[in-house]
Amino acid sequence: MTNRFPPRGRTREDVLAELEARKDEDVDWRGGRIGLYTHFGGDDVLEIAKDASRMYFSENALGPRAFPSLARLENDVIAWTLGLLNGGDDAAGSMTSGGTESILMGVKTARDWARDTHPGVKEPVVVAPYSAHPAFNKAAHYLGVEVKRVPVGDDFRADADRMAEAIDDRTVMLVASAPQFAHGVIDPVSDIAELARDRNLWLHVDACVGGFIAPFARELGRPVPPFDFSVPGVMSMSADLHKYGFTAKGASTLLLSDRAHRAYQVFEFDEWPRGHYASPTIPGSRPGGPIAAAWAVLSYLGRDGYLRIAGEILDAVDRLKAGIAAIDGLEIVGDPPLTILSYTSEDYDILAVAEAMTNRGWFVTPSADPRAIHMGMLTMTHAPVVDRYLSDLARSVEEARSGTVEAVERAVTYGG
Ligand SMILES: Cc1ncc(COP(=O)(O)O)c(C=O)c1O
Repeated sequence: MTNRFPPRGRTREDVLAELEARKDEDVDWRGGRIGLYTHFGGDDVLEIAKDASRMYFSENALGPRAFPSLARLENDVIAWTLGLLNGGDDAAGSMTSGGTESILMGVKTARDWARDTHPGVKEPVVVAPYSAHPAFNKAAHYLGVEVKRVPVGDDFRADADRMAEAIDDRTVMLVASAPQFAHGVIDPVSDIAELARDRNLWLHVDACVGGFIAPFARELGRPVPPFDFSVPGVMSMSADLHKYGFTAKGASTLLLSDRAHRAYQVFEFDEWPRGHYASPTIPGSRPGGPIAAAWAVLSYLGRDGYLRIAGEILDAVDRLKAGIAAIDGLEIVGDPPLTILSYTSEDYDILAVAEAMTNRGWFVTPSADPRAIHMGMLTMTHAPVVDRYLSDLARSVEEARSGTVEAVERAVTYGG
C-alpha cells in the first residue's frame, strides 16, 4: 500500500480490472461458502436492484423538494413494510442505512419520549435480553443511555420474568428480538409487550433479520409467534430491507406504531445562517440508490415472490437441520424457527470441527456462548450446497473425533 495520492488517472479498463482482481481475495459468498454479510434472493433480484440503484446513483434523498420521486419511493417502501408488519393507520416510519441506524434511531426516539413521559429519569436505562444485538449498546453509548442485559432462558429466548425483575425507576425502554442473531430464536414479544404496557415503557422489537422473512414463514405455516405491531405495546421496530428484503445494502426501516412519536425522532435546528434544518435519521445526504433499489425489489417480487424465496430457503434450512441432527454428537442450539441456526457438540470439540470445515474451504463463524458453529443467515446461495456442506461436515466430525484435526482458539468475532 502506498500513501501517495494517485498522481495520474488510469483508464477505466485498468481500474475495473484491478477491482476485479482484488475481489479474488474475498470469500466466495456466491458459492454459499459463508452465511454472513450477504443476502441473495436470485440473480434476477440482484439485477433489478442494481439497475434501480444506478438510475438513482446521483440523486439525494436529503432534498425531497428537488427529488419528490425519491420521497414517494421511500413512502411506498415504508407503507408496504408497515402493511407487512401490521402497522395501524397511525403508524409511520423512515428508511435508514441499516439495522444499526434503525436501532440507534429507535433508542433515540425512546429516550426523548421518556424525557416527556418519565421526566424524573435523569439517567435512562434500556432493559434488554443478553442476546440482543450489540447495536443497542452502540446506540446507548452514542446517546448517553445505559443498557442492562438480562440472562435469557434455557431455550435462549428472552425471559420476561427476569426482565421484569430488572426494571427499576430508571428504566425507560425494553427490547425484544425477532429473531435474535446468536441463536436465531424469537423472543416472547407478547409477554414483554405486556410488561411494557403495565410499566409504561417503550418497547422496540428488533426484526432486522425477521422483518422480511418471518411474515412469509408464518404464511407458509411455520410456527412464528406474534412479534410485530399486531402486539399492543410494540412502539418501534427495525426491519432490514438489505437482509431478507434482498435489496441493495444501505437499506433498513425504523417503524413507529404512532406517528405522533416522530417528534421524538426528528432532529431540528435553526441557529445557523442557512435556515431551518430537520432530519429524521443520522445522515445528512442520503443516497437515492438504496431507496430506489428497495422500491424496485419489493415491487418486482411482491408477496408471491417473497413467499417463493422464503419457502426455498426454509426448505434448505430444514434439510441442513435434519442433516446436522443425523450426524452423531451434533446438536442444534435451541429451536430456531427461521433462517439462522448454530450447532454444537458435547462429545468432541466443535472448534476442531470448525477447523476441519475451514480446511475444506468453508468460511466458518464460531459462536461464543454456547461454543458452537454459527451458520449466520441462510439465503438462496445455500440451497444448492446443502448436500456438499453436510458431507464435508460428516468427514470433519470424523476428523475431530479421531483427533486428526485440532481446535484452534481463534477470536470469536462478528464484524471487524
Ligand atoms: C438481530 C440483528 N439486529 C441488528 C443487526 C444490525 O444490522 P446491520 O448490520 O444492518 O447494521 C443485525 C445484523 O446482523 C442483526 O442480526
